[in-house]
Amino acid sequence: MHPPNETAAPPPGSHSRDLHWMERALELARMGTALASPNPRVGCVLVSPDGRCVGEGWHSYDQRDHAEIVALRAAGEQARGATAYVTLEPCSHTGRTGPCALALQHAGVARVVVATEDPNPRVAGNGLRMLREAGIAVDCGTGLHAARRLNEGFARWIQTGMPFVTQKVALSLDGRIAPQPGLPGQGPFWITSEESRFTVQQMRHAADAVLTGIGTILADDPLLTDRSGAPRRRNLLRVILDSTLRLPLAAQVVQSADGDLVVCTVSQDEERVALLRGLGVEVQQFSPGVHGRLPLASVLEWLGQRQILDVMTECGSHLNGALLAQGLVDRCTCFVAPVILGAHALPAWGARDAADAAAAGNLSGMVSPNTPTEASESIQLPQARWSASGPDACCSALLRDPWPAEPVD
Ligand SMILES: NC(=O)c1ccc[n+]([C@@H]2O[C@H](COP(=O)([O-])OP(=O)(O)OC[C@H]3O[C@@H](n4cnc5c(N)ncnc54)[C@H](OP(=O)(O)O)[C@@H]3O)[C@@H](O)[C@H]2O)c1
Repeated sequence: MHPPNETAAPPPGSHSRDLHWMERALELARMGTALASPNPRVGCVLVSPDGRCVGEGWHSYDQRDHAEIVALRAAGEQARGATAYVTLEPCSHTGRTGPCALALQHAGVARVVVATEDPNPRVAGNGLRMLREAGIAVDCGTGLHAARRLNEGFARWIQTGMPFVTQKVALSLDGRIAPQPGLPGQGPFWITSEESRFTVQQMRHAADAVLTGIGTILADDPLLTDRSGAPRRRNLLRVILDSTLRLPLAAQVVQSADGDLVVCTVSQDEERVALLRGLGVEVQQFSPGVHGRLPLASVLEWLGQRQILDVMTECGSHLNGALLAQGLVDRCTCFVAPVILGAHALPAWGARDAADAAAAGNLSGMVSPNTPTEASESIQLPQARWSASGPDACCSALLRDPWPAEPVD
């Protein structure tokens, strides 16, 4: 499936050589974006003792075989004595396929370099142990950071059943997400640049579901589809939170529904429910949560039960604020544009009423206990990464690391 290539000899020195091949394995793992879920994205490279790549593989759910098996098949007899570079600990159990740790052993692989241990409690260290017990040299940790970032959704979901939530926000320099509502002559308004919107399409492509509120549908009538053009095995699930079923039947999301649109509601208006279902919209009814609202944690838990690992939110003020205040955001990715919208424009994280405002004032419990907080209402995010995005800046910050704090190796 992935023919071995004759890559030029990597730089000398064993650590830089390991890094070189692990970077290639990470590149392969990325090919599983939108194709591996609900399994993790994994890549593998087999390198002969004289430094040649003899086999490569990456995992796609529909092809069933794990990355190691694909690479071993490509290498054939050349796997004997080779070093395997794998972005995730080889599995030790029989699931849809047999244990990869055993397959590596049987193929005569001499050394295995692993980027990170598997967060799956059924594996977590057992694969590494199995390899070592078979006399194979094992090193763990090369490319650890990149490998972990690649599978944040899998790490959260496999340990808790909950999806990993990335809150995407496009905001002005003064922290606003939309102009003052109801201004005359208002048409579609893009805050951020074409480059940022291109990146948002890539983010949608990497997600299993995109979630927004009825406020955004009524204001913008977005389509919310993955228009990256890249292949995916499951449609991007579009999730609308709409307590009272105000969703217009003429909305673009409804008109384009194709088994990929879910409306979450607490409404018992069966007539309206039937109307929407007749148009191909899935309607999921929840018992009302606090203040009669949709219980956000239950919505996410339900998505987890549908094997949704990565949720990207593209909400307005109210849901941004509610999700953050309830500690349901794992990563926040903000695109900040050089534009000022003024004090009457919509704030990025708003409070709908006193209950939301009170919750928003209580940030404790929102981040892991070892995240330093300097004042009761501020959160320091020391791991935030800034990058340029055309004329905009992009800041992506992890609020809660889904990976176990202590690597097993
Ligand atoms: N720049 C950006 O990144 C960005 C992204 C998206 C939207 N926007 C802008 O945001 C504006 C809309 O903001 P918005 O706040 O009205 O929209 P929103 O946050 O998308 O939707 C808010 C609505 O969600 C519903 N909801 C359901 N369950 C909820 C819960 N548990 N907590 C809170 N709300 C819940 C509520 O209506 P019900 O009670 O009726 O269900 C609420 O009014 C638009 O102008 C849009 O352009 C900007």
